[in-house]
Amino acid sequence: MKFSKNIEVKNIFNKISHKYDFLNNLLSFGLHKLWKRKLVNLLEPLNGEDWADLCCGTGDLAFLISSRVTPRGSITGIDSAKDILNIAKKKSDLKQNKFIKWQIKDVLEIDDYSKRFDGICMSYGLRNLNNIEEGIKKVFYLLKDKGRAGFLDFNHSTNNSLSNVFQKIYLRLIVVTISRLFNLSPEYSYIEKSIRNYPKKNELIKIAKKVGFKKAEYRTICLGQMGILILAK
Ligand SMILES: C[S@@+](CC[C@H](N)C(=O)[O-])C[C@H]1O[C@@H](n2cnc3c(N)ncnc32)[C@H](O)[C@@H]1O
Repeated sequence: MKFSKNIEVKNIFNKISHKYDFLNNLLSFGLHKLWKRKLVNLLEPLNGEDWADLCCGTGDLAFLISSRVTPRGSITGIDSAKDILNIAKKKSDLKQNKFIKWQIKDVLEIDDYSKRFDGICMSYGLRNLNNIEEGIKKVFYLLKDKGRAGFLDFNHSTNNSLSNVFQKIYLRLIVVTISRLFNLSPEYSYIEKSIRNYPKKNELIKIAKKVGFKKAEYRTICLGQMGILILAK
């Protein structure tokens, strides 16, 4: 079961990889860039620190973090889907960014307990993991003592609340309709299902505390459409 969901998610992102950045910009009206900047600003990466962008996709967060932590620090972008990671690599070649290490790996299969990162970020990745608690545990073990992590994703709002209704309308009428024009509607329909299975604010905080994080805070942005979880050891 776990295996099939991993394969399903990997196939989705390999399939949409060539249109991923284009559709991200179009479907979010470019706002995803602001939300990612917001996450990075909250995390305050410093020059000389070692960071990881998990589920990095085409590398937006990795590039933002790279500009803050290098030249003395490092940034590693990790993703399980080869095609989307190849786009990240091409983008870093174009930008002539030699600082980011790109690694193909399933986050849940990382077996590194060396506490090597000062910070870890993830955007729109946690929701896709087979086991969210395991994902947060991996982050915990990868972080140095006093390390911090931030996760940006759709907010799973209370059923039938205004933001929940708006989210459904947006996903069904805008996201699925536009992605249909590119023959990618089954892949983009997956978003609504994945939000349904994604823990709500208080559950995320509970999981993070159970895993061992001392600080766990959640804030909603964009009128409750998106959420940012900030954790510290
Ligand atoms: C919605 S995209 C987000 C990409 C990027 N972080 C962004 O915000 O644009 C989700 C990414 O998570 C990756 N992913 C999903 N499950 C994963 C896993 N178990 N391990 C590593 N990467 C995973 C997918 O391949 C995909 O690139």
